[in-house]
Amino acid sequence: MANKKTLFERLGGEFGIAYVVNRFSNQVLENKTVGYESKNQQLQDWSVHEAKHRLPGLKFERTLWMIDATGGPLKYVPSLGLPTNPTEDRLSLEIPHCPLQITSDEFDAVAGELDLALLFCGVPQAETKEVLAAFNAEKNKVIRGSKIQEKGRCPYSLPERNQANKARTDTLFERLGGEFGIAYVVELFSDRLLQDQVVGVNSKNPHLRNWSRNEAEKRLPGLKFERTLWMIDATGGPLRYTPSLGVPPLQNGKHLNLANPHCPFQISRTEFDAVAGVLKTVLEECQVPKADVQAVLDVFGQQKDNVTMGNRVPSRCPAGFFGHS
Ligand code: HEM
Repeated sequence: MANKKTLFERLGGEFGIAYVVNRFSNQVLENKTVGYESKNQQLQDWSVHEAKHRLPGLKFERTLWMIDATGGPLKYVPSLGLPTNPTEDRLSLEIPHCPLQITSDEFDAVAGELDLALLFCGVPQAETKEVLAAFNAEKNKVIRGSKIQEKGRCPYSLPERNQANKARTDTLFERLGGEFGIAYVVELFSDRLLQDQVVGVNSKNPHLRNWSRNEAEKRLPGLKFERTLWMIDATGGPLRYTPSLGVPPLQNGKHLNLANPHCPFQISRTEFDAVAGVLKTVLEECQVPKADVQAVLDVFGQQKDNVTMGNRVPSRCPAGFFGHS
């Protein structure tokens, strides 16, 4: 009993959770009650006008919340610009959802999509029940916005938050648009790498080729989550990167060091440069100012020796770690 695994572990850690969240978030957009055709004007507007840029960030936040709610090693914090929760309940979703005025039926439609996504992803019945229970426990808070009669009672409105976020420019994290801006860049960058001649499905590196061809379908959402988390941390944001379940962590304040997760892939310096090139192109396409593009490339470039360690000195890879299972 003492060794019983947490729900987080039984779901397959960050990667298992991100896989479910990815599926469920895509399907919610198509759902008639809460997606593009929703009668709730806020949800319809979000799906039609905002999802293109904000869906990657929403997937990131949902995954983070789920990791926290299932006993994983990360703590949910509301995204840039959201008022901090005044209560002790760290997981409360009342504030982020208030302006969306979500009704009870709309909540249930989303829960239905989550149930289907858990089935699609092969999550066993016992774990499915536990996840749905954690989700449903938030219902009253998520739908409270729809019960507030007087206008202006939510702690913030979506346009106000967007406006306030644009004015925040102190850290690179803020200038990139916080979690949502970073997750969008990571989404474009990660999708493009899969097709890249040097590191994607046709890579000469058999480990990268195999991953892109055979593992990406299930693991890409988790990789996007980890990349976003790392970038938030490395650019001065409010979250701290930890390697995903099963990857040996590095001690002594080297928490941003990417040597261990990359060791089994034996990435060469040429392959690293190809990845940096794609990152630069995507940042420019997202119209990130020149100085900030350089700042991101600098934090990324600092990892070159670490990321390529498995190729240069494989003997320094952690003993017994040959990749994720
Ligand atoms: C327990 C149930 C739910 C969970 C775990 C959840 C999770 C989250 C999280 C973590 C955020 C981001 C908050 C932040 O910015 O930090 C968020 C925002 C949001 N949620 Fe939910 N949510 C739930 C229910 C719902 C429902 C029923 C809907 C209806 C479709 C919904 C739609 C949205 C939308 C549109 C946003 C705004 C994203 C943005 O800022 O652009 N959520 N949700």
